[in-house]
Amino acid sequence: MTANAVVSLNGVSFSWPAQPQPVLEDLHLTIEPGDRLFIGGASGSGKTTLLSLIGGLLQPDAGSIRVLGKDLAALTAAQRDRFRADHVGFVFQMFNLVPYLSLAENVLLPCRFSPLRRRRAVEAAGGTSTSAEAERLLRRLQLEEPLIHQRRASELSAGQQQRVAVARALIGRPELIIADEPTSALDPAASERFIDLLFEECAKAGASLLFVSHDSDLEERFPRRLGLRGPHEQSRMQSRMQSRMQSRKAAIPC
Ligand SMILES: Nc1ncnc2c1ncn2[C@@H]1O[C@H](COP(=O)(O)OP(=O)(O)OP(=O)(O)O)[C@@H](O)[C@H]1O
Ligand SMILES: [Mg+2]
Repeated sequence: MTANAVVSLNGVSFSWPAQPQPVLEDLHLTIEPGDRLFIGGASGSGKTTLLSLIGGLLQPDAGSIRVLGKDLAALTAAQRDRFRADHVGFVFQMFNLVPYLSLAENVLLPCRFSPLRRRRAVEAAGGTSTSAEAERLLRRLQLEEPLIHQRRASELSAGQQQRVAVARALIGRPELIIADEPTSALDPAASERFIDLLFEECAKAGASLLFVSHDSDLEERFPRRLGLRGPHEQSRMQSRMQSRMQSRKAAIPC
């Protein structure tokens, strides 16, 4: 672990109630600024659980989780929510859009909860407005006017909802982007375009990316990979040396 790690997990274990085996056991993981980590593993292996722990939505049974130097266990639930709003862009597996809000309104939600994200969104839009930044991100994800202001989130296809969820995670340039199967509803060409955009936006913001997917074609594009093996086996992060070796093979620098 380095002093400026974005995420550091030290001996983290977690069990769901009524499950005999821990989902995660003695997990060690360090994410540095600008890292891009692909997290794979079979359905039920604990990928979403791991992301929820890093996002402060769940608490580990053992071990510690630090994000941007903050020990999440030392924060109250309200402080964790605030911290997440300021510093983490979360793309949930089930999107979690507010159904009655427009696309743009959904994307702007983090700016309502976090003055820091609001300020950064305005800066990213060249000092204009958060709305301009929301529109830019949506357009980059092939969501155009009049859709973005006139349509409610509940009236979108799954692939469209997914892209709105991604724009919402990116707005205000959080230091950490956590994306849980963000391409599951996209066709292969859209997935590739999407990864290009995600890497580009992460590079602009200097953000680190944790990306869960079952798509092995996308895995190739990531310099670091972590495979979870589920409740019966311990999952450990590759050594930093392995990760550096893989970094040299990376197709796209971030
Ligand atoms: N809220 C919950 N309550 C109890 N058990 C849960 C809960 N959420 C997940 N689990 C269990 O924890 C294990 C890991 O689930 P998790 O959702 O993290 O898997 P995953 O790797 O994200 O799977 P998928 O690829 O299907 O999304 C599974 O056995 C699951 O049944
Ligand atoms: Mg999952």
